[in-house]
Amino acid sequence: MIIFAMESSCDETAAAVVRAEEGRFEVLSDIVSSQIPIHALYGGVVPEIASRAHCEAVTNVARQAVDQSGIALSDVDAVAVTFAPGLIGSLLVGVSFAKALASSLNVPLIPVDHIKGHVAAAYVEHPEVKPPYLALVVSGGHTSLYHVTDWNTFEEIGGSRDDACGEAFDKVGRVMGLPYPGGAAMDRLAADWFALEAEGRKNSFHFPSPAVADESFDFSFSGLKTAVINAIHNEKQKRKTEELPDDIRIEIAGAFTKTVTDGIGKKLAAAIRETGADTLVLAGGVAANSHLRRAVEQVCCRRKTAFAVPSLRLCGDNAVMIAAAGYYSFLGGIRADSSLNAYASDEGSADYLASLNHENHTDL
Ligand code: KG4
Ligand code: ZN
Repeated sequence: MIIFAMESSCDETAAAVVRAEEGRFEVLSDIVSSQIPIHALYGGVVPEIASRAHCEAVTNVARQAVDQSGIALSDVDAVAVTFAPGLIGSLLVGVSFAKALASSLNVPLIPVDHIKGHVAAAYVEHPEVKPPYLALVVSGGHTSLYHVTDWNTFEEIGGSRDDACGEAFDKVGRVMGLPYPGGAAMDRLAADWFALEAEGRKNSFHFPSPAVADESFDFSFSGLKTAVINAIHNEKQKRKTEELPDDIRIEIAGAFTKTVTDGIGKKLAAAIRETGADTLVLAGGVAANSHLRRAVEQVCCRRKTAFAVPSLRLCGDNAVMIAAAGYYSFLGGIRADSSLNAYASDEGSADYLASLNHENHTDL
């Protein structure tokens, strides 16, 4: 079947055309129009500006996705769209567009949860991933650990009790003076530190772990974030400057990143042990972090658990992942109609999904 998918939950307007057959995905087009340069002026996403930018981009992005795919619109068998969670104004742009498209083509409309979309990105390049498995989603807005027992059954067994992991990267990055969003620049600074460490340098910064000190699989990034920000302010005060020298930035980035990867690794090892999972998926924007990818791969290797992480392009927000999640929702009989709404949080969307009448459609 051919799925046209749309994603607009935050600051990327994305559309893709994907051919899905028997759990294999062929990406026919993958268009992402990023608003990062616009929001970088403000040091973070400005919701009103985001919705307007989605309105301006959506038609062109959709048209490019169809043109580049080489299919005719009439070949589309279903339209999948992110309907939750995210910025409500941003989500509404994609949902309205997708509703109109599905209705004009007279094809099913499939509502997709953004976080489950991030996880489904792994299916595209790792078709061997099949439930049951564990999935950690680390993004700018979410940090959640799921036990995925069925294609459409995600049991949340842990997550952040406060800030999302990516939020910590971005806020620390901002105080350090890195361009928004700070994650990618922090990745490079930390790599510089780890190179020094390999030569024997010891880090003089120590930060509190984001792994909550109990039996849960929960994280807390706010204490870590505050400790790192305080350390940055202290260093600035000591030097009476607003601009930290590069060697201090590198050392702090290294200590922060190591604390994050150790904390996540610790909870994942415990979750693998407790659930007996034989596969772990790492997904979401922060899954692009080279140090986190390596650390989680090592945990999986030690526990003899298969590890799947999307390529860098599919870690950030995109519509290919929405098509992949939409495919399994479609097979599970999940359909929306023209009353589909957007939901900023998971609570409203979970009630909506529960209200849908599922039938199994495995005939395609
Ligand atoms: O999944 P995503 O594109 O958007 C949300 O759904 O939130 O994630 C964006 C987040 C940002 O916080 C960004 O700083 C972070 O992913 N990120 C990274 C890296 N690349 C992107 N964080 C750490 N290291 C990276 N290399
Ligand atoms: Zn995302």
